[in-house]
Amino acid sequence: MTHSLARFLRNARKNALALSRQLRRNSSVARILGIETSCDDTGVAIIDTKGTVLAEALYSQSEFHAQLGGVQPPIARELHARNLSFATNDVFRESGLKLEDLDAIAVTTRPGFIMTLKEGLDHGRRLATAADLPVIPIHHMEAHALMPRLEDPSLEFPFLVLLVSGGHCLLALVKAVDEFRLLGTSKDIAPGEFLDKVARRLKVRNLESCQNLSGGPAIEKLAKDGNPALLPGTRLPNTMIGYRDCDFSFSGLRTHFESLIAAETERWSVMGGDVIPTVADVAAAVQVALAKHLAMRVERAFRYCDLKELLPTSSPRHLVLSGGVASNAFLRVALSRVCQANEAVLVCPSPRLCTDNGLMIAWNGVERWKIGHRGVIGEKAIGAIPVVAREPWGCSDREEVARAGLKVKLAEIDRYFVQLQDENLINEAPG
Ligand code: KG4
Ligand code: ZN
Repeated sequence: MTHSLARFLRNARKNALALSRQLRRNSSVARILGIETSCDDTGVAIIDTKGTVLAEALYSQSEFHAQLGGVQPPIARELHARNLSFATNDVFRESGLKLEDLDAIAVTTRPGFIMTLKEGLDHGRRLATAADLPVIPIHHMEAHALMPRLEDPSLEFPFLVLLVSGGHCLLALVKAVDEFRLLGTSKDIAPGEFLDKVARRLKVRNLESCQNLSGGPAIEKLAKDGNPALLPGTRLPNTMIGYRDCDFSFSGLRTHFESLIAAETERWSVMGGDVIPTVADVAAAVQVALAKHLAMRVERAFRYCDLKELLPTSSPRHLVLSGGVASNAFLRVALSRVCQANEAVLVCPSPRLCTDNGLMIAWNGVERWKIGHRGVIGEKAIGAIPVVAREPWGCSDREEVARAGLKVKLAEIDRYFVQLQDENLINEAPG
């Protein structure tokens, strides 16, 4: 085949694709394929601009990495490379669509592991260039924050969002699809990392009931039968109460509980792989301490928003709780009490949508598409999209929150937890 014939055929195909897309666009429904590979989950999904989920596939590597003691980026990249082709085939099979039926590819490009993000973007670039589609770069945290609007289209801007996961802890005001104000973030580790580290110290995997659970779910399961008041010298640490901001810190809590576990191990003369008999009580204490710290910051965020008139003064006011740790039922109840007191409603995506998935990326692509962000087109331009390990999200109001110096009394937060005790969500001290 001569070069000019090949060029002619390429152009003819390009024009035919453009025409078929134009015809569909006139029907005002666009279909977007989303790709998530920022950490250890390979997610691919297709959603249209009406919010119809056309297909989704998720391949998790977490069990694999759990055995290695944490996510190993080179291994994660290899697994993503394999899983991406499985997941992409799955969504085309499930939806009955072809690449040519799509309008754009949305890809997580930040923050995350450079190696794994690159794998996802390369995959997206290959798909996009094969069908002359644009790539919409997606910020992973923005995708978490907007996810609940897929399930609940009545969730309107502005709303507060608390993202709590294995790698992040962010409290922000979401003003629009592409406008965020960061009110607080963790100064050290993320809440999921705190739970996972404490769970490892508790050796929960040596318990038959928790063998296959990661740290957070194991703590939640054990805590149901635990009572913090049964632990010796139990005064739970009150983290950062002296700081009148919305930032978080979990490393102090981690040290506190690691010392407590060491003391309990000695008190009960526990040896080797055995688990302390008070494991459930410690788990319950961990959960309460975490929930109290988050509740304190959320309470202050509501007051800050009221002071600056950033949220509607009457209903509906919303707090979205998302990220892996948001699957925790106790945390959901505790934060729903904080919301009630602030005349707001707690919105939690269903647990499977709290964790990383392709749907949230496809949905973020849809949200951006609808406000006219149509992405980047052409192999060269797509190849120039940067992947970024750490990128701040939105503009920061953290210092302004601290300057406002809003006092939240510990007693006010404790009140919510006394209610939970009354409802038997925290076990009471006997007699
Ligand atoms: O968002 P996510 O799936 O991904 C990462 O950030 O990696 O969050 C994972 C984290 C883990 O630390 C896990 O222990 C925690 O979320 N997690 C939970 C629960 N389910 C998962 N923490 C508390 N309670 C749960 N039910
Ligand atoms: Zn995430």
